[in-house]
Amino acid sequence: MAAKGFPAEIERLRDEIRAHDRRYYIEDAPVISDTEYDRLLKRLQDLEAAHPGSVRPDSPTQRVGGGVATDFKSVKHAVPMLSLDNTYSADEVRQWHERVVKLLPKSETPAFVVEPKVDGLSCALTYENGLLIRGATRGDGEAGEDVTPNVRTLKNVPLSLSGRAPSRLELRGEVVMYQADFEALNASELKAGREPFVNPRNCAAGSLRQKDPKITAARRLRFIAHSFGVWEGGKAVESHTGFLDACAGLGFQTNPRWRKNGIDALVDFFDQFRELVIPNLPFGVDGVVVKVDSYAQQKMLGFTAKSPRWAVAFKYPAQQASTSVDAVEFSVGRTGTITPVAKVKPVFCAGVTISSVTLHNFDEIARLGLKIGDRVMIERAGEVIPKIVKVVGSSKGGREIKAPKTCPSCGGRILKEEGFVAYYCGNPSCPAQLKRTLLHFASRQAMDIQGFGEETVDQLVDSGRVSAIADIYSLPKEDLLKLALWKEKKADNLLAQIEASKNRPLSKLINALGIRQVGEKTAESLAEGFSLDELAAASPEDLRRIPEIGPVVAESIVGFFKAPEVKGLLAKLKKAGLNFKKMAPSAPAGSALAGKTFVFTGELSGMSRDEAGEKVKALGAKTSSSISAKTSFVVAGDSPGSKYQKAKALGVTILTEAEFLKLVNP
Ligand code: IVH
Repeated sequence: MAAKGFPAEIERLRDEIRAHDRRYYIEDAPVISDTEYDRLLKRLQDLEAAHPGSVRPDSPTQRVGGGVATDFKSVKHAVPMLSLDNTYSADEVRQWHERVVKLLPKSETPAFVVEPKVDGLSCALTYENGLLIRGATRGDGEAGEDVTPNVRTLKNVPLSLSGRAPSRLELRGEVVMYQADFEALNASELKAGREPFVNPRNCAAGSLRQKDPKITAARRLRFIAHSFGVWEGGKAVESHTGFLDACAGLGFQTNPRWRKNGIDALVDFFDQFRELVIPNLPFGVDGVVVKVDSYAQQKMLGFTAKSPRWAVAFKYPAQQASTSVDAVEFSVGRTGTITPVAKVKPVFCAGVTISSVTLHNFDEIARLGLKIGDRVMIERAGEVIPKIVKVVGSSKGGREIKAPKTCPSCGGRILKEEGFVAYYCGNPSCPAQLKRTLLHFASRQAMDIQGFGEETVDQLVDSGRVSAIADIYSLPKEDLLKLALWKEKKADNLLAQIEASKNRPLSKLINALGIRQVGEKTAESLAEGFSLDELAAASPEDLRRIPEIGPVVAESIVGFFKAPEVKGLLAKLKKAGLNFKKMAPSAPAGSALAGKTFVFTGELSGMSRDEAGEKVKALGAKTSSSISAKTSFVVAGDSPGSKYQKAKALGVTILTEAEFLKLVNP
């Protein structure tokens, strides 16, 4: 709108320059050259000089305004600037999601927004009645530094808001320098004989914290909006996506973002984001931020002292790091196996500080050619435990790693089975073994006794209160209260957990017993075939009636239940009231293929073998990887293997893929 008495050209020029700023800085699609732009700006400056009364604070000429120096005065934020909780694995994000779902009423299904975690400097911009009145750094979150003259020079920060602006707005975002601008700046710094900047983030930080805003202005910084502290008046926003859209309408640059429904879609997206999105972003990114989209839901979730519960940052783990091996220690596993563990100089890798790395066994040490004192490359991929990939430098005085002669936990004799790589402790009552046994027993996949973790197990075993599994079920509360730092509430919680574990399905209990060769899946099949009393009395032949039980597993089970201490354990567990009952088969007995066993060989054209397996399981059948006379059907895809011959020899029914499909989709 042209003010009366001044040439209309002034306001036209301002609008034109703002539009070019927008094209250049926000849309990344300039339509004029820098020289043409400078000419427009010069023309405006001349006109304003001729008509001083026309000058307004939001004119593009006022970005570097009147030689005002930045004073870095402390300013208190209207609302504290919090930080985000960091996660480093899909599992942690899933845990976050579980908490979100738990905290929301059942009727609320959250949708999520994924956007880049911008690696810049947090800043807050305050607008009153549409005009930029302040820019402040984050500082300690409560108060930051006033950098108003500097943020005014950022060309993608509107000095006045367009559209239906809130009457009061405190907008938050990151100040960044694009990689390309950073490289250009460094090239000219080098040419001028000056030290180059370390990275775009440091450079942006240094550029924003300048006394002279002219220096900031020359640095091409940008502001990317991602949240707000205050939003009063204007268009009401009800979701994060709504907020981002409104910001764009007001003239701000915002993050690209993706809306996802459901945790699986969300987590699946992370890989794509890393591979396809991040490499194409012009600014530095150190992960992604996930936010619950709906503000109503955000409000229900609220905040912890430091961060919102409705948002989480997911950082992509760096993969490798180098460090050196200071020592090798030996840990004793549940079955007595001695595992060498390298103690390394603490190093930050994939989001965690690593100070010890398993070496698995002595063959691994030989394969790596590892000596104490060597420099090594370690690797950690997501949730996977860290490992040593290779030795990258041997030290002169490197010491050889020797197997211990006695158990590091109980001093018992160390044995090595002929033909096996592992050394093990031969003492059946070795406390290290007992601790591992108890931890496994109480673990989530087994009896799921929460609060029965490493610390508790250490306390219970070291104080002599637990010396066998069954002792868990006869722990008096008074004994718990005698342990260091145990209070009424903690003891009650643990006892309630122990009580609840008595009702776990039999499959969990079988898994919890820790029978060699019997994992979660086998435990399930066993629990569907036998009660625990039946299982304890089963012969190898009885066991082998279950399709996936072969001779080795059958022997291991029979051997386990033969031991007198196991008999004693079962008697005590039964007396304690644990659930020994056989489980109902996972598919109802009347299902079309109940009791049948399928083996797949060769490649199927319409689906993966896993999918085919899921199909038959849904119909009550089982799958197996090996053929026996008990196999009901062999499904032969393209170029079937030796299983096809074996099926023929045993007279097992062989189905083509088409026949199989008819059977499962009648
Ligand atoms: S939302 C409660 N969104 O990361 C904080 N923050 O560690 C809500 N950051 O201080 C902020 N990218 O400065 C949000 N897309 C994004 C972000 C982002 C970077 C910064 C922010 C915050 C820090 C948290």
